[in-house]
Amino acid sequence: MTTTDLPLLPLGRGTDLTSERGVECPGDLPPASDPALVERARAAKAALGDRVFVLGHHYQRDEVIQFADVTGDSFKLAREAAARPDAEFIVFCGVHFMAESADILTGESQQVILPDLAAGCSMADMARLTQVEMAWDALGAAGVADSVVPVTYMNSSADIKAFCGRNGGLVCTSSNAEVALEWAFEQKGGLEGDAKIFFLPDQHLGRNTAVLKMGLTVDDCVVWDPFRPGGGLTPEQLRAAKVILWRGHCSVHGKFSPDVVDELRATIPGVQILVHPECTHEVVLKADLVGSTEFIIKTIEAAPSGSSWSIGTELNLVQRLAAAHPDKNISFLDKTVCYCSTMNRIDLPHLVWALESLVAGTVVNRIEVDPDTATWAQLALERMLALPGKSHKD
Ligand code: 13P
Ligand code: SF4
Repeated sequence: MTTTDLPLLPLGRGTDLTSERGVECPGDLPPASDPALVERARAAKAALGDRVFVLGHHYQRDEVIQFADVTGDSFKLAREAAARPDAEFIVFCGVHFMAESADILTGESQQVILPDLAAGCSMADMARLTQVEMAWDALGAAGVADSVVPVTYMNSSADIKAFCGRNGGLVCTSSNAEVALEWAFEQKGGLEGDAKIFFLPDQHLGRNTAVLKMGLTVDDCVVWDPFRPGGGLTPEQLRAAKVILWRGHCSVHGKFSPDVVDELRATIPGVQILVHPECTHEVVLKADLVGSTEFIIKTIEAAPSGSSWSIGTELNLVQRLAAAHPDKNISFLDKTVCYCSTMNRIDLPHLVWALESLVAGTVVNRIEVDPDTATWAQLALERMLALPGKSHKD
């Protein structure tokens, strides 16, 4: 995470931060994107033509997103990757787990490229396969493994997705977590019976979905801590739980706090709080609307002129929304400036390097999932892509 101390940061037009920060912007900052690099990216992309398809996650920098053929949340981008069988190269402007999923969902002759290999995800790193297998064994020892369906958030490594595929489970994203949990419960006889879900790796998305969408209570959910013996849970607790949440979280969305929501409501008349479900349950409970990045964008697009919004998600996206909707009052739901540092690793120099290397006939930073992992992970991803109804809407 990159943080800079700033006061609550309204991002709409006419904001004057000078007095609060005590520093006046000279108005002479260098351009966000080096014009020479912009031209080089444009030329390389034009030279590659239809051979390359560039996907851009909503959290990417402006300088990168301008070169995306499609932008989207992780669900939309997975579908877009699968729907481009003719593109020889998929350049994924996002993070490692997204590029892995794209590799799994694309054909053998296609190559997926992540412009900077350091673009990982701290949440995905919180669940390692060996830890997850130990937890699974403990569920077996508690006598509940047969009633459990593993569900992993897209934000996980390919081997965790494969674990879910191998054990009758699936992948979900923030767009379709509710329908994925419904599917998972149904695999073991439905919510009313003994069915349980083992949800990886984001405890907040798991809890928010279980409680706010499935009608379960916070007490129906327990948290498995991979760093404590037995996950910090007794076999009785495992048997009583409906949802076993992995103790993982997003450090970017974890920054938003319920106090700031109260503060904003007191200072901005009529403000609506719009947050991503990776935020803590306390924040989500205080919000007006909760949904994926795609949902957040659609909500702001549909909002009336003059309405006020405070948004709890990654700052690149909030800034872009504020710039695109100057007729709406859009602020960031935090007192600090907080980008996802790994998403930000993909910058224009890396994108230019990746594209120009392709023009020169060299594939750099290819993301390749080994065939066995890919087979099982693909099963888990395809179960997700086959989910009915609202899986692509919010
Ligand atoms: P999505 O809304 O695309 O699921 O994004 C959340 C996120 O944190 C991606 O890393
Ligand atoms: Fe991972 Fe959070 Fe960054 Fe998304 S925003 S890539 S979940 S650290």
